[in-house]
Amino acid sequence: MDTPDKIMPVTEEQLLLLSAELEEIKQKFIQSDKLAFIGKLTTGIMHEIKNPLNFINNFTKLSQELLEELNVIIDEISDKLDADSLADLNDIRSMLKGNLNKVLENGERAQRIIFSMLAQMHDRQEIVFELTDINKLVDEFAKLAYQGMRGNDREFNLTFKTDYDRSILPVNLEFQEMSRVIINLVDNACYTLNEKKKKMKDQFSPEILLSTKKLDNFIEIKIRDNGNGIPQPVIDQIFNPFFTTKPKGQGTGLGLSLSYDIITNVHKGEIEILTKENEYTEFRILIPVNLA
Ligand SMILES: Nc1ncnc2c1ncn2[C@@H]1O[C@H](COP(=O)(O)OP(=O)(O)OP(=O)(O)O)[C@@H](O)[C@H]1O
Ligand SMILES: [Mg+2]
Repeated sequence: MDTPDKIMPVTEEQLLLLSAELEEIKQKFIQSDKLAFIGKLTTGIMHEIKNPLNFINNFTKLSQELLEELNVIIDEISDKLDADSLADLNDIRSMLKGNLNKVLENGERAQRIIFSMLAQMHDRQEIVFELTDINKLVDEFAKLAYQGMRGNDREFNLTFKTDYDRSILPVNLEFQEMSRVIINLVDNACYTLNEKKKKMKDQFSPEILLSTKKLDNFIEIKIRDNGNGIPQPVIDQIFNPFFTTKPKGQGTGLGLSLSYDIITNVHKGEIEILTKENEYTEFRILIPVNLA
């Protein structure tokens, strides 16, 4: 008769370790489920809002044109009006012009937010993996994000340092999604560097270090800035959709939650943060090399 395999007793320490690992896995599932749900919900709402908003903006522009026509008519007949009526009319048309400008300005702002959200949230039905030169991807899209930042603020400058592992062979990646992650991370780095530069002026030289490395089963990508760092309470919420510390109207708070989704769900990889307040922030990404 076969003797049953001897079952090794599990120590309390091992049990604790196992239960901590289980808890971590559970949290990851909850996070990705939540993201998928919020993603669908948001995309639906955005599509619903997009059309009426378009309507509001177009009719506001039309009303601005009508007001211009009305102004021409009033100017033509102004010598037939008494001074008080003309003064009232002038007050009203100038207020109308101001109001319409405000409606359009805010309507267009809402439209920009919706477009950028929809661009981020775009349908994931067409996931296409392709062999990609990861060094080139990181380099190109990091610089693109920087140029985008400079487009808004010509004063802003930074130095890129790079440490690319030239031995990395092309990796199977979802190119579009991965480039989005690099743009989001570098965009965040530029933002904190710009803030710090405005505060410290000549005492500070903004820098971003981009590096890649081939590990045993992973490709590692690191994006490190010497900006303000991230305090613990922010780190605790950083991957939550819509979490942002930017002033109202400036950030959607979707950059990192979508990047998290792209790395962990689309690429089955990992993303982690190393940071020290007022000194640096480093986002470290691991992408498995044997992705199908
Ligand atoms: N490199 C960084 N240094 C300091 N803080 C950061 C950095 N990256 C992210 N953060 C913090 O994480 C928050 C969330 O980032 P996330 O990219 O998700 O949204 P956002 O940048 O605020 O908005 P959006 O991406 O739409 O512009 C930021 O508001 C900021 O507080
Ligand atoms: Mg961002």
